[in-house]
Amino acid sequence: MSERVLITGGYGFVGSHLADAYLEQGYSVRVLDNLDPTVHGSSNKAPTYLSKDVEFIRGDIRDTDTLVASLKDVSIVSHHAAAVSVVQSMSNPSRFAEVNTLGTARLLELLTDRNRFPIRKLIVPSSMSIYGEGLYQAGGNEVTPHLRSKEQLESKSWEILSNGEVCQPVHTPETKPSRPTSIYAITKHDQEEMALAIGEASGIPTIALRYFNIYGPRQSLCNPYTGVAAIFSSRLLNGNPPVVFEDGGQLRDFVHVSDIVQANILATINDSIDQGVYNIGSGNPVSILEVAERLIRLFEFHGEPSITQTARPGDIRHCYADISKAAKELGYRPKAIFNDSLKELIGWVSTQTATDNFDAAYKKLNLTG
Ligand code: UD1
Repeated sequence: MSERVLITGGYGFVGSHLADAYLEQGYSVRVLDNLDPTVHGSSNKAPTYLSKDVEFIRGDIRDTDTLVASLKDVSIVSHHAAAVSVVQSMSNPSRFAEVNTLGTARLLELLTDRNRFPIRKLIVPSSMSIYGEGLYQAGGNEVTPHLRSKEQLESKSWEILSNGEVCQPVHTPETKPSRPTSIYAITKHDQEEMALAIGEASGIPTIALRYFNIYGPRQSLCNPYTGVAAIFSSRLLNGNPPVVFEDGGQLRDFVHVSDIVQANILATINDSIDQGVYNIGSGNPVSILEVAERLIRLFEFHGEPSITQTARPGDIRHCYADISKAAKELGYRPKAIFNDSLKELIGWVSTQTATDNFDAAYKKLNLTG
């Protein structure tokens, strides 16, 4: 009989790709999802992309009875249910604490009963957001800065400074101390720490995967604070130029959802690691201006990105992954080619009602100068 995997949040962007991959690998797949309207829109309907072979339980991660039913005969738990928007987390901290922190705690509480729920692997998705700023160097030393001050941003000085010197960003390893700066990031940090602590105490092999900036088909376009590549694509599809904050020099690590899937499958099949935290990115820094320019070319849009020279509150300047630990210990090798995968993203966006939510999301913040 095949092993059963429970994917919480399995109708979401990452969870749904995982469901496909686990089925393909011969696992039985059960999804627990509440079809959160901030991700799935207000239609209240399940998206049609999941296979009929997926068993679906609709319910809330905080509900113990639902969790008990979901965990029956499960040997792998992939805990992807979460409230996701960084911006929204700052105006609704209690919801994020409830869904992400309390929801995870409820799940873990049940998993401590090893006789009742003898799972062999717990995978928790974590986030690059727990680092805050990435790692830098200045004067031959490592620098782990906090966010840039309001005064610095108002003077339109974008780079991280240490004693007046510009710090050079470097690949961020897992050992960089975490410095979460949003409620979302704090709850992802909680989730990771709680899972590792319970995993260790209860003898559950537990792997936390710190995702960098994920993009790809099925990325939610309902949420105006979704990833930048999807936001730019929606704008271009509506005939509007991408709006680039700061000077566009911010560096991020864009990782295609298929590489996220690869990391999860590797974490699932690996039986030599009991506890581990891994960065899952592409390992390649790309500037936001470059993303805008690539998409403009792909859309054959006649126009330039609109560069605001204003910063989005709470944003970091640079962060990209050192993926050497995942490569060495899990055998992770990102395969997606950025330009090809952006084309595929455009294909997805154009099949959706891609509302350009940009103005609604940012106008009240007066970020467009
Ligand atoms: C944040 C979270 C990350 C989460 C991601 C997607 C932090 C540090 N990281 O990442 O965990 O996975 O959101 O929800 O909190 N930008 C523009 N124009 C836009 C939109 C964004 O220029 O219209 C810029 C932003 O200023 C930023 C970069 O693009 O510099 C990336 O933004 P975004 O895709 O929202 O992701 P992060 O802020 O890196």
